[in-house]
Amino acid sequence: MANFALFWIWAFVFCLCFGATKCHFSIPLKIYPGKYHLSTEANLSSVRVVKSDGDGLSLASDPSGTVNFLDMVNNLQGDSGRGYYIEMSVGTPGQKLNILVDTGSSNFAVAAAPHTFITHYFNTALSSTYQSTGRPVAVRYTQGSLKGELGTDFVSIPKGPNGTIGINIVAILSSDGFFLPGINWQGILGLAYPELAQPDSVVEPFFNSVVNQLGIPDTFSLQMCGAGLAPSSTVNPPAGSLIMGGAEPALYRGSIWYTPIIQEWYYQVEVLKLEVGEQNLNLDCKEYNTDKAFVDSGTTLLRLPINVFNAVVDAITLNSKIDSFSPGFWDGTKLACWKKSENLWKLFPKLSIYLRATNTSQSFRITILPLLYLQPVTDVNDMVCFRFCVTSSANSLVIGATVMEGFYVVFDRAQKRLGFALSSCAVSDGVALSEITGPFSVADVAADCTVSVPKEPVLWMISYALVAVCALILISLLLLLLLPCRHRDRGEITDESSLVRHRIK
Ligand SMILES: *[C@@H]1O[C@H](CO)[C@@H](O)[C@H](O)[C@H]1NC(C)=O
Ligand SMILES: *[C@@H]1O[C@H](CO)[C@@H](O)[C@H](O)[C@H]1NC(C)=O
Ligand SMILES: *[C@@H]1O[C@H](CO)[C@@H](O)[C@H](O)[C@H]1NC(C)=O
Repeated sequence: MANFALFWIWAFVFCLCFGATKCHFSIPLKIYPGKYHLSTEANLSSVRVVKSDGDGLSLASDPSGTVNFLDMVNNLQGDSGRGYYIEMSVGTPGQKLNILVDTGSSNFAVAAAPHTFITHYFNTALSSTYQSTGRPVAVRYTQGSLKGELGTDFVSIPKGPNGTIGINIVAILSSDGFFLPGINWQGILGLAYPELAQPDSVVEPFFNSVVNQLGIPDTFSLQMCGAGLAPSSTVNPPAGSLIMGGAEPALYRGSIWYTPIIQEWYYQVEVLKLEVGEQNLNLDCKEYNTDKAFVDSGTTLLRLPINVFNAVVDAITLNSKIDSFSPGFWDGTKLACWKKSENLWKLFPKLSIYLRATNTSQSFRITILPLLYLQPVTDVNDMVCFRFCVTSSANSLVIGATVMEGFYVVFDRAQKRLGFALSSCAVSDGVALSEITGPFSVADVAADCTVSVPKEPVLWMISYALVAVCALILISLLLLLLLPCRHRDRGEITDESSLVRHRIK
């Protein structure tokens, strides 16, 4: 009788444990705001021109002595709406592909089959070094998803660090809403941490492979230059830089301000405060981090948790004294157009985000001017139309391209921190589009503004394990309470209960 009961208890526990292990591999990430958001409103065929602010080039810092950062300057093309991409050579012999730079996901994935919206794809059969693992992979992004098979091959980056790198590749065989009209890239370079990699965190992400194999420092930095440019220009200029191995002084002005990476999955940071104009929104600081705040080059807009978004829209409306905009403007379905000569954007306030400094009792503030969050999308005769580049999110604050275009952002993984400096290209008509100030004391905010969130998939494991342990303890207690009675009846339970104790500890 007792034997029978124990069998079922252990069967139950094993099921739970086994089930939890399975979950780790099979539950898809539901929250995955990795991919860029294409604006739907207007013809985005016109590409905006990158203006230089005329900064002289300074000498590249070269910590390892093996990487020349200046060779990587201007290696990106694209814009915030359709994404920033870098050219890579994939396979042997190399097949040239444009790859979207995405700091909000962790898989390197390239089209391996034709698709309506792409001009070419990676033909695995033509690469002598491509090896399939036969493992299926599915990745879901905020918008779109892809399916394919996991393989390995070699890549090189013409305007990147010298060398060929063996990497994991997801060969995309089918996708849904991932490739979109007007894009000029065929794959995605997920630059975040292993925890977000699919199908599991054992799949080494691209940049980890680069660092391990080429020996460059575990840091990369991004300059995205699409801000504040006339929508009507048709030139297709270099649009930014992805510097692998460090930071290039020619790409920023002033000093780099650092904020800790508080958890290594997304590039998660801690937001302490938001200001519209000079006005503090005065929300509980946990609202800004509900349920996480992170920096993502693959997201076009600045995304704010709903409460924060509503407060920002109210504050901008009040501050700009423009109340004639329809709700459609704020929710991104309509553009606002006015005469070029009117420069109405001058009526809009600055937006500031306070980030925890590496000295945790201090903060610094990154500020974007209206021309960064009001993107000129199209111009018609003497009118120019703007799109509101802030939107709401159910579960994140995402510092996307709208904000990143104002700054040179250093992903200093080695020291677990993110750096922000004024970008040399965030200038329009001689006026800087961004500001950084600090340090500020954080006496007025809570010691910890982060929100603990069930993190998939690891938390699933932990909660299942906890359920299993609880169940085990409860059942053991029940047994200990019940069985001694039977023991007296049947005279043979002592070994069983000691077995239970033995297995628990
Ligand atoms: C978009 O482009 C098409 C064709 O180039 C044109 O007919 C249409 O008017 C454009 N729409 C807008 C909103 O500019
Ligand atoms: C790659 O090697 C060449 C020749 O040694 C050198 O001139 C170049 O600067 C290197 N590129 C990078 C990105 O380090
Ligand atoms: C950190 O900031 C506090 C408050 O501004 C200051 O008193 C302290 O000296 C700083 N610590 C370091 C190591 O700079």
